[in-house]
Amino acid sequence: MKTIIEPFRIKVVEPVRQTTADERKAALAGASWNLFQLAADDVLIDLLTDSGTGAMSQEQWAGMMRGDESYAGGRSYARFASKVQEVFGYEHVIPTHQGRAAERILFSLVGGKGRIIPNNTHFDTTRANVEYTGAQALDLVKSEARDPTLELPFKGDLDLGRLDALIAKHRDNIPLAMLTITNNAGGGQPVSFGNAQAVAERCHAAGIPFWFDACRFAENCWFIKQREPGFADKSVKQIARELFALGDGCTMSAKKDGLANIGGFLATNDANLAAEARNLLIMTEGFPTYGGLAGRDLEAIAQGLDEVLDEDYLRYRAVSTAYLCDHLHAAGVPVLRPAGGHAVYLDAERFLPHLPKSQFPGQALACALYLHGGIRSCEIGPVMFGENALMDLVRLAIPRRVYTQSHIDYTVEVILEVFAKRHEIRGLEMTWQPKTLRHFTCHFAPIR
Ligand code: F0G
Repeated sequence: MKTIIEPFRIKVVEPVRQTTADERKAALAGASWNLFQLAADDVLIDLLTDSGTGAMSQEQWAGMMRGDESYAGGRSYARFASKVQEVFGYEHVIPTHQGRAAERILFSLVGGKGRIIPNNTHFDTTRANVEYTGAQALDLVKSEARDPTLELPFKGDLDLGRLDALIAKHRDNIPLAMLTITNNAGGGQPVSFGNAQAVAERCHAAGIPFWFDACRFAENCWFIKQREPGFADKSVKQIARELFALGDGCTMSAKKDGLANIGGFLATNDANLAAEARNLLIMTEGFPTYGGLAGRDLEAIAQGLDEVLDEDYLRYRAVSTAYLCDHLHAAGVPVLRPAGGHAVYLDAERFLPHLPKSQFPGQALACALYLHGGIRSCEIGPVMFGENALMDLVRLAIPRRVYTQSHIDYTVEVILEVFAKRHEIRGLEMTWQPKTLRHFTCHFAPIR
């Protein structure tokens, strides 16, 4: 069959609320033109993030009832830890309330002034957690990743030449190197197995630990299976095991490819680091067998890690994301190509060429989509990353197993109508910003 269907049917529904254009105008003004500040009830289709916004399955909900809420040594931790060990292959499994807590613990241990952490591209909280320790977060993604029109299978790959140069000069100051799979800040693009292997070899030859930011590992491994020679006959689970076997550990947000609404973990084969991490965990997250989560959350994640590796699910996931991207591209809308695993990224620079960079085209476009059709998206560009921004993008992140094809068709229609009127979109000025992670709370005003 040519039609790839959602591999599930719907048992519980959540109503969404239509708003009028006037209501949206008032809501956006009340939010200081920052979409993070909107009430979710004022949003019709919420593509702000794919993080924690997925729908859980009947088995996950059933697992919630089986959750063991014992303070120490609960059976839900045992199930969670053995599932993480089975999929990721790392011995020490430390649960955290979400990915950034694992990042905070990891970088408190290895970061610090004078240290450099290379990555293909650090996402916002990863960068913030590195920089908070005084270390430098260095993005070394291949230069091709900065060209939104270039269609390559693995635009998340790290530039090996730049890594070699960095290691030659600063070897002693690199406590670990990281690869973010998929590369969220650069269009949700995958990293190839070959690139990960080359990074691992270089790091290990220099005595540098190599870690993964594994948030969207299943989507990345699906792309490896589809696109990289030699992997078509392997299961995604097998590819994941082989990929993680290249590394020394990972941080993970279970809110993405854990198919859970909350949770994360740090997993590693480094026993000393794990022991130190557990001590930090106890101070701020919780005892090592629950780490900031309820036992029921650990059950949901353990089950989610099984379901995310189901290849019918992954095929549907990739195809439905590409559907949005392809329809926009066919109508001439500038989108980053190819489609990412979890999101489609509009290229705001080409969408709104009449706006100078100083007027935040990405933010202006995200606001226009909300005003026109109640769609919430997220600027991934200079508002989020300042001068470290790779491009000026608007991310339409697709929550997992939540929206149907008609929601996506509606989204296409809204974007095409906004595209037709793009010359009317005005720029924004930033009227207030906090010291760090400004995108979450800063204020804007439209330029008259
Ligand atoms: N790493 C990457 C690549 C991420 O995309 C995120 C979160 C994190 C780490 C942190 O995980 O949210 O569980 O603390 N990204 C979300 C997003 C928020 O919208 O892309 P977390």
